[in-house]
Amino acid sequence: MTRVGHRRSPATGGCPERPERVVTLTPVCGIVGYVGWRGAQEVLVNGLRRLEYRGYDSAGVAVVDGRGELEVHRAAGPLDNLVAVLPEGGATGEGTGRGGTTGMGHTRWATHGPPTDRNAHPHRDAASKVAVVHNGIIENFVALRAELEAAGVELASDTDSEVAAHLVARAFAADPDAGLTAAVRAVVARLEGAFTLVFTHADSPDEIVAARRSSPLVVGVGEGEMFVASDVAAFIDHTREAVELGQDQIVTLTRGGAVVTDFLGEPARTRPFHVDWDIAAAEKGGHDFFMLKEIEEQPAALADTLRGHLVDGRIVLDEQRLSDQELRDIDKVFVVACGTAYHAGLLAKYAIEHWCRIPVEVEVASEFRYRDPVLDRSTLVVAISQSGETADTLEAVRHARDQKARVLAICNTNGAQIPRESDAVLYTHAGPEVGVAATKTFTAQVIACYLVGLALAQTFGTKYADEVAREYAELEASTDAVARVLEAVVEPARALARELAASKAVLFLGRHVGFPVALEGALKLKELAYMHAEGFAAGELKHGPIALIEQDLPVVVVMPSPKGRAILHQKLLSNIREIQARGARTIVVAEEGDETVRPFAEHLIEVPAVSTLLQPLVASVPLQVFAAEVARARGYDVDKPRNLAKSVTVE
Ligand code: M6R
Repeated sequence: MTRVGHRRSPATGGCPERPERVVTLTPVCGIVGYVGWRGAQEVLVNGLRRLEYRGYDSAGVAVVDGRGELEVHRAAGPLDNLVAVLPEGGATGEGTGRGGTTGMGHTRWATHGPPTDRNAHPHRDAASKVAVVHNGIIENFVALRAELEAAGVELASDTDSEVAAHLVARAFAADPDAGLTAAVRAVVARLEGAFTLVFTHADSPDEIVAARRSSPLVVGVGEGEMFVASDVAAFIDHTREAVELGQDQIVTLTRGGAVVTDFLGEPARTRPFHVDWDIAAAEKGGHDFFMLKEIEEQPAALADTLRGHLVDGRIVLDEQRLSDQELRDIDKVFVVACGTAYHAGLLAKYAIEHWCRIPVEVEVASEFRYRDPVLDRSTLVVAISQSGETADTLEAVRHARDQKARVLAICNTNGAQIPRESDAVLYTHAGPEVGVAATKTFTAQVIACYLVGLALAQTFGTKYADEVAREYAELEASTDAVARVLEAVVEPARALARELAASKAVLFLGRHVGFPVALEGALKLKELAYMHAEGFAAGELKHGPIALIEQDLPVVVVMPSPKGRAILHQKLLSNIREIQARGARTIVVAEEGDETVRPFAEHLIEVPAVSTLLQPLVASVPLQVFAAEVARARGYDVDKPRNLAKSVTVE
């Protein structure tokens, strides 16, 4: 068995592991478990606050109280609804003088059963001895439920998760001396699908047992206290020493440490790491919303993503399990990603094709594997994912590997599943992103894509070392340009947002690298402000979308520099004239000093002059602020847009 105690862990870094295969992908929920010396309820609720981005349909906590009884509180809706029903002062075991110090919490993104109090986790067995929280889908729950009902068990919820509580209670009761871990091991062997589960038993109050299949689970190692959670953010207040659990592992946590085995009870390999960001990164820092803070953190996110990747004149990745020869053999690149990450991927194409003269295709991950793309050993698939958990992207990675393609991951979450299953990894060091809308991780992904482009260019010999160093220096300089945008545009973008908040729709137009910016600007507005927003390649306008233009429709135009590609600039000016002639209100994002555009811009947002590939970094920022402020003006929760979760772990 692997024992984990409190010790300094090696810094985060590469750990070549065999790829792990799982059959099913899971929805996203937040899980936290605690055993230690603090009042568990407070630890759990604070942990859930940091995990609320994972799901906010309902929440709950279970604590083994000072009398050795399970105390469970659950509430549909946001976490504050749960807090409102918790015992005053957060103490449990009231009247006994001993608060509970063992427990678990959950924030839910509903799959089986509507988001009601009774379907909220934790779930219990009938005798209220076992509590469980679950992230995933137990695919054979119908059969298991029928089996339990045939044995006279009454289930109290519509969920698949509840069966696990009853099954563990029965396994424990059958052989109490074998302990909770043995009971959990026996039950997980019967479960099909994807499940990350945490259990506690009132008769064994000094331990919690968790099993991981599919969804992430990390252990936090404190002094006389241990944590387990979907994300380190849940326990970062208390410890920065963590251990990532692998697939099909069970961990038993007591105050003194953790014991990790596989599902058969054999010793299991784990990966300890030190979290290199602190509590301030996981808090709002004076902002009303995480997203607004995260927008402002972009210069630092870019700098941190670049740092340390130019070593002795060569671009180095964070992890590389491919030989130089294998990389040199690459003759085609696919970029796969979803949502905002896909927009970053579109920009990768411009850079890689330009610098490496190699064909690059960019595809939404959910489409990639279903169309049987032509992949072989000489194909590089670049998978971009902030979370590293996105089901569509993960399945695209698996498909690519099955076809023997090489996979390079760009990811913001250390040790997440996508980087674990990839041959090479470049981490975006953007820090935790809590707002559901991606902002700093988008610009960090763009920078990371460019680093990958430079790494390939040096491998293929399409760029000399001094050219690579020059490009790298330009990337570094972009952090200042983004900082200047933030200083200059936040207020005007806010004012504009207030003015346009009542609009029915907004269109976004761009050409060349401005096209992905237009797509991203529209996505931000859709997801945050629930407003109809579309991004178009400006040249496509006359092929259909121009029919949408009507009097006073706001149209955001991302202008290229008048210096670099004068022809593109000219063409966009013509596009602006076309839409103005049809009554559109023009909001133009243009380079400082671009006087030619001024007469055509009802609202002009000026951004610093940078090289063509860096323009998306400076042009995206005002659109992020604009979307957040429109959402705010419309009274929406900027961090938690309806129907969305931060990581989409269902296909
Ligand atoms: O974690 P990932 O980067 O794989 O997530 C991909 C998309 O789900 C994500 O970018 C989504 O589009 C964002 N909410 C957009 O702001």
